[in-house]
Amino acid sequence: MNIISVIQEGVINAVKAVYGADIDSKQVSMNVTRKEFEGDYTVVVFPFSKIARKKPEAIAEDLGKHIVEHVAEISDFNVIKGFLNLSIGSEFWSEFLNAATVDPDFGIHPSNGKKVMVEFSSPNTNKPLHLGHIRNILLGWSCSKILQAAGYEVIKTQIVNNRGIAICKSMLSWKKFANGATPENSGIKGDRMVGDYYVMFTKKYEEEYLSWQQTEKAIEVYNEKKKEGQEKEAFFKGYKNDYFNEYSELGKEAKEMLLKWENNDPDTLELWKTMNSWVLEGFDKTYAKLGVDFDKLYFESDTYLLGKEIIEKGLEKGILTKEDKRVFIDLETKGLGRKTVIKSDGTSTYTSQDLGTAQLRWNDYGTEKMVYVVGDEQISHFQGVFEILKKLGEPYADGLYHLAYGMVDLPTGRMKTREGTVVDADDLIAEVIEESRQNAKERGELHEMSKEEQEEIIRNIGLAALKFFIIKVHPKKRMTFNPKESVDLQGQTGPYVQNAYVRIQSILRKAAGKADLEKSKLYKDYESLEKDLLNQIYQYPALVKSAAEDYDPSSIANYCYNIAKTFHKFYHDHSILKAESEEAKAFRLKLAKMVGRVLKAAMSLLGIEMPERM
Ligand code: ARG
Repeated sequence: MNIISVIQEGVINAVKAVYGADIDSKQVSMNVTRKEFEGDYTVVVFPFSKIARKKPEAIAEDLGKHIVEHVAEISDFNVIKGFLNLSIGSEFWSEFLNAATVDPDFGIHPSNGKKVMVEFSSPNTNKPLHLGHIRNILLGWSCSKILQAAGYEVIKTQIVNNRGIAICKSMLSWKKFANGATPENSGIKGDRMVGDYYVMFTKKYEEEYLSWQQTEKAIEVYNEKKKEGQEKEAFFKGYKNDYFNEYSELGKEAKEMLLKWENNDPDTLELWKTMNSWVLEGFDKTYAKLGVDFDKLYFESDTYLLGKEIIEKGLEKGILTKEDKRVFIDLETKGLGRKTVIKSDGTSTYTSQDLGTAQLRWNDYGTEKMVYVVGDEQISHFQGVFEILKKLGEPYADGLYHLAYGMVDLPTGRMKTREGTVVDADDLIAEVIEESRQNAKERGELHEMSKEEQEEIIRNIGLAALKFFIIKVHPKKRMTFNPKESVDLQGQTGPYVQNAYVRIQSILRKAAGKADLEKSKLYKDYESLEKDLLNQIYQYPALVKSAAEDYDPSSIANYCYNIAKTFHKFYHDHSILKAESEEAKAFRLKLAKMVGRVLKAAMSLLGIEMPERM
C-alpha cells in the first residue's frame, strides 16, 4: 500500500477521463501539503495546462472532483492558487495505522543485495580522540545504521594511521621522559598518556628551537636565508620545519627512529607495538562510551606500501607521470594542481597509501560503494585519489564517496585546552553527562530510583544530548557544540525528543489493560494534529531511503524533532486517557504507541537510545 502511487494513479485516470489524454506517473508532480493549507498531498496541475487548455484553477477543480469521486482513499479536496490539495480519508489512515502497528519491520527496507563500506573515525595513534572525531564517529555510525535500514549490507571500517614521524615523536618522548610510566602503573588512559608525550615532544622541541636561535649557526642561517627586511622572529617562525630536518637534535633522533622502524629494528618495533596497543585500548574505551564498533580495522602499517601496483599501472597507462623518483598526477584541468603520489626520495605518501587501501578493501569485500567520512579539509586529497582510480577504470571507482563534514567549534574561548590541543572526546562526554546530571537534579524526577538506575538514565540523556545536537546539523555545515544548550529539555535537542517518548510510555503504562484498542477502528473524525501524526509516520520509510541516498542523518534528526513536537502539541491539545469516547481513546493510544515506536527506531538510527523514564 503506497498512498503516493494511489494518488498518482488517481491523477492519471482523472486526466484521461476528463481531458482524454494519456500521461505517465513521471508527469504527476506531488508534494506534502504545506502546513498552512488544508489537505495532505498537493498536486501540481500547471503541467496539464496544454492538455486541458484551461487555467490551473479550473483544472484543479476538474481533477479534484473526479479524484474524490473515484479514489476511495481521498475524501476531500480544495484548490489554492491553482494547486490541488487532497485530503486522505479516515479509512485509509485507519488501515494504514493497523498495518503499521503489526509490521515489526516498519521503516526497515528489505535487503537490496548491495554492499557498502563506511569508513569513519580513522584516527592517528599519537593523540586521543577529540571533538572533531566525535562528529566524524556520529556521522559514520548513523550513516551505517541508515544504510542498513535502507537495505544495504554495511561494513564499518577505519584506517588507523599508526606509523610515520608523528608516531615516532611520541615514542621518542616517552622513551626519554616517561621513566617507564605505563597506563597500568599510572592509571592514565592509554591514548591520553601517548598524547601527553606527543605534546611533551612538541614542548621540548620548542625549547630546543628557542635556545638554538641564540647560537651563531642560527644567526648565520638567518642572515643567509631571510627575505628582504624580514625580522628575526618572523623568519624563525617560518623556519621551524626546516630546522627540524636540518639541525634539530630531537628531529634527528625522531627521524632515526622512523628509519629503524622501517627497517624492522626489534626494539623499536617492540616499543611501537606497546605504545600502539595503549592507544588502541584507549580508543576502544571511548568507542564503547559512544556505543559504536567496527567490523574491520585497516592499519596503515600494513597498507602503506600497497599502492605500488596501482602506481605501476597508472604509469603504464600514462595517467601518472614520473620525474626522477617523484610520481605525480596532473590535475591542473580540475583545478587541483599536481598531486604527489610518490615523493622524490621514493617513499610513499598519504595518497599512495589510500590507493592501496582502497584496492585491498575491494579485494576483501567487493562492496559497490565505499564512503569515507573525513573532514572537509581533505576534500582535495580525496578528489585526487578518486580521480586516479577513475582514470584507471577500477571497477569500484564510481562508488567512492567522500562524506566531507565541517569543523565543530565550542563556544568562544573554549576551543582548545591550555596546552593548545583540541578538547578530548572523553572530557566532552564527561561534560555533557555532568550537564545532564545537573538538569536531572533540577527536575527532581528520578529520586525514587536506585542510584544505578539514575546514573544509567543520566548517562543516556547526556549522550543523547551530545549526539543529537551534532547530528541535527547538516554534515556539510560548520557548527558550534554547546553542551549547556544540548541538554535543554525545551530546545531542539535529544532530550526533548526522548521526553516525547517517555511521555508516551508513561501513558501506555497507565492505560495498560484498560482500553480495547480494537475500538480504534470506529474512530473517524480525525483532529488535524492526529492527521499530522499519521502523515509523519507514513513518511518515515521513504525518509529512511532518502537519508541513505543523501548520506544525511540530519534529515532523520529533524524528522524526530518534528514528530516529537507534533506529539507534544497533540498531547497538550487533546486528552488521550480521558478522550471524549472509548473509540477516540483507543485510536489515540494506538497512534501514540506507533509514534513511540517510530521515534525509538529513528533515534536508534542516530545511535541514540530511549529511556523509559526521565
Ligand atoms: N588519520 C587521518 C587524519 O586524522 C584521517 C584518515 C582518513 N581516511 C583516509 N582513508 N585517508 O587526518
